[in-house]
Amino acid sequence: MQVFCRDFKYCAKNSAIVRIALLRTCGGGSAITVFSRMSETTSEFQVCIAGTGSYVPEKVLTNEELSKRVDTSDEWIVSRTGIRERRIAAAGEFTSHMATHAARKALEQAGIEAKDVQLIIVATITPDTPTPATACYVQQNLGSMGAVAFDISAACSGFLYAMKIAKRLISSGAFENALIIGAEKLSAVTNWEDRATCVLFGDGAGAAVLRRAEPQEGSILATEMGSDGNLTHLLNIPGGGTACPITSDNVNDHLFTLNMLGKEVFKHAVNRMKEAAEKVIERAGLQAKDIACVIPHQANLRIIDAIADRLLVPNDRVFVNLDKYGNTSAAAVAIALDEANRSGAFKRGDNIVLVVFGAGLTWAAAAVRW
Ligand code: ACO
Repeated sequence: MQVFCRDFKYCAKNSAIVRIALLRTCGGGSAITVFSRMSETTSEFQVCIAGTGSYVPEKVLTNEELSKRVDTSDEWIVSRTGIRERRIAAAGEFTSHMATHAARKALEQAGIEAKDVQLIIVATITPDTPTPATACYVQQNLGSMGAVAFDISAACSGFLYAMKIAKRLISSGAFENALIIGAEKLSAVTNWEDRATCVLFGDGAGAAVLRRAEPQEGSILATEMGSDGNLTHLLNIPGGGTACPITSDNVNDHLFTLNMLGKEVFKHAVNRMKEAAEKVIERAGLQAKDIACVIPHQANLRIIDAIADRLLVPNDRVFVNLDKYGNTSAAAVAIALDEANRSGAFKRGDNIVLVVFGAGLTWAAAAVRW
């Protein structure tokens, strides 16, 4: 009897990862399963961040310049948000282009060639096109033709959602590495006549390479994510989907730009980020004193200060770069991670905590030993 292996599946059994071979006989007989044990000692592979990268467009838009377009001032923007300037992508520069630049830097630092990437996840609310996924354009740009590529939409929380998904897929044995990217061209969905929102957003991309960790390496210790669909009205782009498609009549109605109830978002952001960060700190067996660096979503300095206060982490251990880039949604925490990594804000063996929130509402956190 000839037997063909159709596919493999992985599952946990008796505290070990087991590989299930799905077999079929040559006569088309029914599939049978066979267990082959991968590890006697651990239920999952440890996963580390092997490299980071980021990219921001060349064009700088300062508060001063914005105050010539709408009724605002550098003083108001800095005192209410901490933002001094943001980057704006060129007309022909798409989300996938920025994502690709950031990805190349992360791959270089990780020492992994693009052709060997197995999984690409792009977190974005500003994809190049509704379909196909921006991750597929990135795959093409990189030449990672052996990879599986898809997007996720979780607004500013997307990069840490991608981290949790990729971590799970690697720790289960399904993939050996993953490229996760947060990339946004928010300038394309900003109402440049609305002073309450246009001062907040910017463009950019950040990336990280995740792979199975060697025993002596650091790893992602704990992850957390959550959503509250009762609060979709607080922050959204109402048009452009099936609920409100673009027509020749509504195209000028600002239905396709970001709307936000800022004060409400602020309140939820502080509470949810605090809870998410506390969960991963506890699950990782850490205390505030053990954390070398907190990397929060870069939306508002007052939100970041409130989080640091509540987590009892001193401000000099909280990484901030929103003064240069504003809020770049899914890209923000990824760019901050890369800048913190490359500037020496933490070193090998240090514990870091990433924490985010965004439209949905959504929130997420990760505790990582570098
Ligand atoms: N310049 C000058 N005045 C302004 C501006 C501006 N750019 N924007 C608003 N104002 C005015 C308002 O009109 C209001 O005036 P009024 O009192 O006469 O009515 C006053 O300033 C205060 O407005 P508030 O909205 O109450 O200001 P607040 O202190 O809440 O700050 C802000 C607004 C910065 C938006 C804050 O609420 C915030 O950061 N919220 C969180 C937003 C956020 O983090 N979103 C992240 C998710 S983004 C994503 O997922 C894509």
